[in-house]
Amino acid sequence: MDAPEHEALNRQVSLGRGRPALDIGSGDGALVQALAELGYRPTGIDCAPSALSTARREHPGLDFRHFDFDTDDLADLPEPAFTLITCRLVYRWVQDKHAFLSRVRQLLAPGGIFWVATSVRSPRHDEAKPWEIEVTEVELLTASWSRADVTQLDESYHCFALHP
Ligand SMILES: C[S@@+](CC[C@H](N)C(=O)[O-])C[C@H]1O[C@@H](n2cnc3c(N)ncnc32)[C@H](O)[C@@H]1O
Repeated sequence: MDAPEHEALNRQVSLGRGRPALDIGSGDGALVQALAELGYRPTGIDCAPSALSTARREHPGLDFRHFDFDTDDLADLPEPAFTLITCRLVYRWVQDKHAFLSRVRQLLAPGGIFWVATSVRSPRHDEAKPWEIEVTEVELLTASWSRADVTQLDESYHCFALHP
């Protein structure tokens, strides 16, 4: 995460004050570290053992768990609900986005925020790049929230803060 993305995250979410946060697809754990610095009590979940090994090595003391968000039992997570759920560079690859969003909503505490960082196809390009989501997928992502704040960091990269 570069400085502008850190600034977007800090602007779009409130301070953690010890409340629980969940990072879905935590990879090397950099976002989980950023959530801890914002005062959250974060858990990073990832289905790839290699990602978990890297995250645990680079961020000892933070909580990383092996968990497949598509299939594993949500009751096995350390909290029944989270004040903040984040998902960076993962949403593009989710197969069943309806089911994914429904599971996120089940886990969001009242007043919580779902924060998503993803590349979106630029209207100036004929075809989406493989890592970009289509405009219709943005519509699905941002539908049915009471508020959707968007920060666009470059031609393609967007940070969404979604409020139930
Ligand atoms: C492109 S990486 C992004 C990692 C990190 N969020 C970042 O911003 O650098 C996608 C990560 O999501 C994980 N992932 C993909 N599908 C997942 C799922 N269903 N449950 C948990 N983790 C998943 C992958 O293992 C991988 O570590």
